[in-house]
Amino acid sequence: MAREGRKFSQAERPRGRIGRIFGGLMARLNKPAYHWTVEQLRPVKPKSYLELGFGTGHLEKLVAKKLKPAKLTGVDPSPLMVEVAQKKLRRFRKKMKIDLLEGDDTRLPKDGPYDAITALHSFQFWTHPATTLAEIRSLLAPGGKFVLVLRLHGKRSKAPNPLSRNGDEVSAACKALQDAGFVIQGMRGISRNSHGIVAGIG
Ligand SMILES: C[S@@+](CC[C@H](N)C(=O)[O-])C[C@H]1O[C@@H](n2cnc3c(N)ncnc32)[C@H](O)[C@@H]1O
Repeated sequence: MAREGRKFSQAERPRGRIGRIFGGLMARLNKPAYHWTVEQLRPVKPKSYLELGFGTGHLEKLVAKKLKPAKLTGVDPSPLMVEVAQKKLRRFRKKMKIDLLEGDDTRLPKDGPYDAITALHSFQFWTHPATTLAEIRSLLAPGGKFVLVLRLHGKRSKAPNPLSRNGDEVSAACKALQDAGFVIQGMRGISRNSHGIVAGIG
């Protein structure tokens, strides 16, 4: 897993009692972004869904309820978040195949293609965004959508992702998406700190 051995913030690797509290707060603050993301995916009617950094699993649950894919997958490197999200999704297990795995953006499942892929406030933790975006592109089905929601950072950010530190994260992310072969289909400021980008492959 990338950059093991250094100290992680609670946002990057929620853990323990504080991590549980942080996860709950995060889920409350990000509600508008979860709903916006689901609305972007609705036209795709995804049968398969993959999320990078699912945290407490609120967006996974909303996707399960509103879009009812046959396959719901995700990776998150925090064992606590995997446990919390697995519990949250338990009641959907009879209706769809659910795989919520411990792993980060460098360890995506290989069982594509996926009709819908999302990453909400985890981009800033990807150490090699170009490599991850190329991987996501290779996993996305034709006609599928990738929804990237940025948690905006300023120049003084210590985020591992170099694009999150460059002062204009939105432009940098759009360029990286285009360099990876994505077409930007839309974008919107969701809240003061959240900016959503919808990308496809043609
Ligand atoms: C700020 S939280 C956002 C969680 C969730 N997406 C939400 O909005 O509720 C960031 C999440 O990304 C996960 N994360 C950290 N590094 C990651 C990486 N390299 N790849 C994927 N996820 C990562 C963390 O464990 C954490 O659950």
